[in-house]
Amino acid sequence: MRPIQISPSLLSADFARLGEEIKAVEPFANMIHIDVMDGHFVPNITLGAPVIEKLRSWTALPFDVHLMIAPVDPFIKDFASAGADILTVHPEGNPHIYRTLQTIREIGCMAGIALNPGTPLELIKSLLPLVDLVLIMTVNPGFGGQAFLDTQLKKIRDARVLIDASDHEILLEVDGGISSTTAPLVIEAGADVLVAGNAIFNTSNARNYGHNIKALRGKYE
Ligand code: DX5
Ligand code: ZN
Repeated sequence: MRPIQISPSLLSADFARLGEEIKAVEPFANMIHIDVMDGHFVPNITLGAPVIEKLRSWTALPFDVHLMIAPVDPFIKDFASAGADILTVHPEGNPHIYRTLQTIREIGCMAGIALNPGTPLELIKSLLPLVDLVLIMTVNPGFGGQAFLDTQLKKIRDARVLIDASDHEILLEVDGGISSTTAPLVIEAGADVLVAGNAIFNTSNARNYGHNIKALRGKYE
């Protein structure tokens, strides 16, 4: 079985205490998921590169930065300089995605491609040589705490097949509605990296992040 990685999404953390929230999940997490939203590509606004730069000193864990912004190209270098390790971009709304992915790698980050629930997997076939991570959205992007879209399970399975046939290592990440109930479904479908916000930071057990993450890993840890 592949190792399962957990990427807690800061979107559901306390925005006034992000550094401390990172410290609290750090012992149990593999990377930190940071959602950047612009109020244009998605109907919500979160944070930008200056905040990520300030958070960088709080942990050595990789910063898994999910850019839900359009246009994205003018900001790629800022996020890399701020300390992002993985930069994941959406092809929807960003027409020159091939060049965007090339740029991300040129400046030394891992390149991720994210697909909205309505975007077919076929779109990434020609992009696979350029990517280090494929992110399948299992909610419509914009907000934490939404219900998991199980219509996306087939896309995850199909992405696993594509990735296994590729000639280099690509992580398969799933984002949206991940809970102790849905985590086993996406792991069985082929996910390597589970993003979770609500299930870690915003539960009745919100003080015990270690417990919440262990519940996501279940028998797969
Ligand atoms: C949604 C974001 C997700 C979000 C997931 O657009 O990309 O990363 O934080 O939140 P949960 O885990 O609560 O569905
Ligand atoms: Zn995300």
